[in-house]
Amino acid sequence: MKENSAKDKVLLLLKGSNDYISGEELSKRMGITRSAIWKYIKALRSEGYEIDSVTNKGYKLINSTGVLNAMELEEGLQTKVLGKRLVFLQSVDSTNQEVKRLAAQDAPHGTVVVAEQQFTGKGRLGRVWNSPPGTGIWFSFLLRPQLPPSKVAGITLAAGLGVCMAIRQYTGLNALIKWPNDVIIGNKKICGILTEMTAEDNRIDYAVVGIGINVNTKEFAPEIRSKATSLAIETGSDINRAELFKTVLKYVEHYIDLYLTDLEKGILPQYTGLCATIGRRVKVVRGNSTFEGEAVSIGDHGDLNVKLDNGSTVAVNSGEVTVQGIY
Ligand code: BTN
Repeated sequence: MKENSAKDKVLLLLKGSNDYISGEELSKRMGITRSAIWKYIKALRSEGYEIDSVTNKGYKLINSTGVLNAMELEEGLQTKVLGKRLVFLQSVDSTNQEVKRLAAQDAPHGTVVVAEQQFTGKGRLGRVWNSPPGTGIWFSFLLRPQLPPSKVAGITLAAGLGVCMAIRQYTGLNALIKWPNDVIIGNKKICGILTEMTAEDNRIDYAVVGIGINVNTKEFAPEIRSKATSLAIETGSDINRAELFKTVLKYVEHYIDLYLTDLEKGILPQYTGLCATIGRRVKVVRGNSTFEGEAVSIGDHGDLNVKLDNGSTVAVNSGEVTVQGIY
C-alpha cells in the first residue's frame, strides 16, 4: 500500500467512527502492524489533526479545524466544474501565477490552485497581499469563457457576490460588498479579489480569478490593522478553512454561472442589495479633476454610477473611486 493512501485510509477510518477505535482494530482493518498505525497517527497529528489516544480504548479524531490539504478540500465538494481539478500547495509565489503557469500547459476550465502560504501574494493596483500560513484561504481558478474582455469585470463582481453570500451563510456575519469586489464586515476588509486575463482578437483566452480571505488571522501588520479584519476576529472562534472553502466555491460557481447565463441582469439585483457602496458619498479622481457624489447604482458593465452634486450622473471604474466611511 502506498504511504499516502495508507495514511488517508487511517484518517478515513477515524473520521467514520464516533467513538475510539483500538490500534488492534485499525491494524486488522488495514492489514498493517500496530507500529505502522502509530506512525500514521503521528504523521496525521503533525499535519494538524487532533487525535486523542487513550490506553485500552485507542484513537479518536477530535478536531480537524486547523488542517488544509487536498483531501479536506475535495471531500464533499459540491461544484459542477470549479475544482474538478484541484491542486493544493504548501507554499507558492502566488496562486494566480501558478494558475497562469498551468493555463500555459492547457489546464482545463475550472482548475483551482489553493496554497497554505504565498510568498509574493498579489493584491490589486500592484499591492502586496500578505498570505501567511495557517490563517487564510488563498486560492485562484482558471476560466476559459467565450466572452469579450469587456465582460470580465462582471465575472469578478459575481465572484465577490459568491464570497459574500458564502461568508453570510457559513458564519451568519453581516458580510457586504465594497464595490467592485472587496468583501467587508463593518468597515473592514475580509476578502480581496484579483482577476487577471489574457485576450486575443477581442476574445478572452483565459481569466484567472484570485481570492484571498482572512479567516483565522489574529493580528494584522500595523499598516493594514485599521482596515482589515478576519472571520475569527469577528466571530470569536476559529473557522474550518476547508469547509468554508467548499461553501465559497459552491456560491462562486453559482453566481458566475448566473452571470454567464444572463450576463449582467442575473446577478445585479442581489449584488446591489449587498453592496455597501450604494447610497454612500464617494470621491472620484479622474485625470486632474476630483469630484464627489453619491453612489446610486451599478451599470450594465459593472461600473459604478455616481450622481454628482451638480445633478449629473457619471459611470466610474474602480481605479477612480474612494468611499467615505469605509477604509
Ligand atoms: C486585493 O487587492 O484586494 C486583491 C487581493 C487578492 C489576493 C488573492 S490571494 C490568492 C490570489 N493569489 C494572489 O497572488 N492574489 C490573489
